[in-house]
Amino acid sequence: MSSKNEILAILEKNRGSAVSGEAISKQLDISRNAVWKNINTLKKEGYKISSVTNKGYALEIENDIISEQGIYANMKKPEIAKILTYKTVDSTNLEARRIADGKAENMTVIVSEEQTSGRGRLGRSFFSPANSGIYMSVILRPEKIGANPVLITTAVCVAVLRAIKQSTQLNPQIKWVNDLFLNNKKICGILTEGITSIESGSIEYIISGIGINFSTLSDDFPKDLQNTAGSLFGNSDNVSISRNQLIASIIENINSITSPLKAESFIDEYKQNSMIIGKDIVFIKKGQQFNAKAIDIDSTGGLIVEMENGQIQTLNSGEISVRKI
Ligand code: BTN
Repeated sequence: MSSKNEILAILEKNRGSAVSGEAISKQLDISRNAVWKNINTLKKEGYKISSVTNKGYALEIENDIISEQGIYANMKKPEIAKILTYKTVDSTNLEARRIADGKAENMTVIVSEEQTSGRGRLGRSFFSPANSGIYMSVILRPEKIGANPVLITTAVCVAVLRAIKQSTQLNPQIKWVNDLFLNNKKICGILTEGITSIESGSIEYIISGIGINFSTLSDDFPKDLQNTAGSLFGNSDNVSISRNQLIASIIENINSITSPLKAESFIDEYKQNSMIIGKDIVFIKKGQQFNAKAIDIDSTGGLIVEMENGQIQTLNSGEISVRKI
């Protein structure tokens, strides 16, 4: 790691409090002048670093630049993941696919400050502006997590929910299959893709892409999203954590929920936090619209519904909406 990145890691670990130039120079075995030069470079790159007389340098609490150092600094066991950060990328899922190409390790994580072609489910796009969102993809290897890949989307959704609850005071809810809602607006979507080996025909790796509207203001969403999209901190002046901190917690929660992946360890939590169980819903199947009541989630994450004629059905994919009566 370069001295600049090592200094950034030290400042991220002590975010909000000052570390003396002398302590940094001793820890990294570089001169005070080299510390000063690197701090200036970091400032030029946009890092909000204050110089406190007789105390040293402090990364300000408002600093919210995504970096590998910033994410690792917030993890209890940084060795569980290989993290790669980008300023901009077309889509972190596409970049993950390019990187994986049969070689990436389980828990390789791609994070980008912005996406120019963010992808959503069902062929949609995902609004991915710089500075206010989290766009990340995790590469998972089926042989490492030892379970039915069908469970992954559900598990990742619970892992993101846990991370948000552990690091903020917020309490989002899950909308089947994999969206998180806060105050009736979507704040997170997940796109999970399996890549099959042509030779063996089996799933070689799974890419789970997570998009979170972190601090996007409602006016900043495109007009067609303004009624349905919200963000974690968009309505609050009090952004209590940095994106690096939340990303670190998401990575740790995905690692623990997939090591190994067992439905019993999260399906109940998924159900308890569901915003649709017991609600009247609408779903579309083979181009036809149906009314039903959502009654339960099965052990593979399928949605059990009761149709208007009393018949019970399980939905395994697709999209539902809550019926307004
Ligand atoms: C959805 O709500 O339809 C799913 C949205 C998934 C968006 C994330 S952002 C990171 C990753 N890269 C993408 O292009 N999409 C996913």
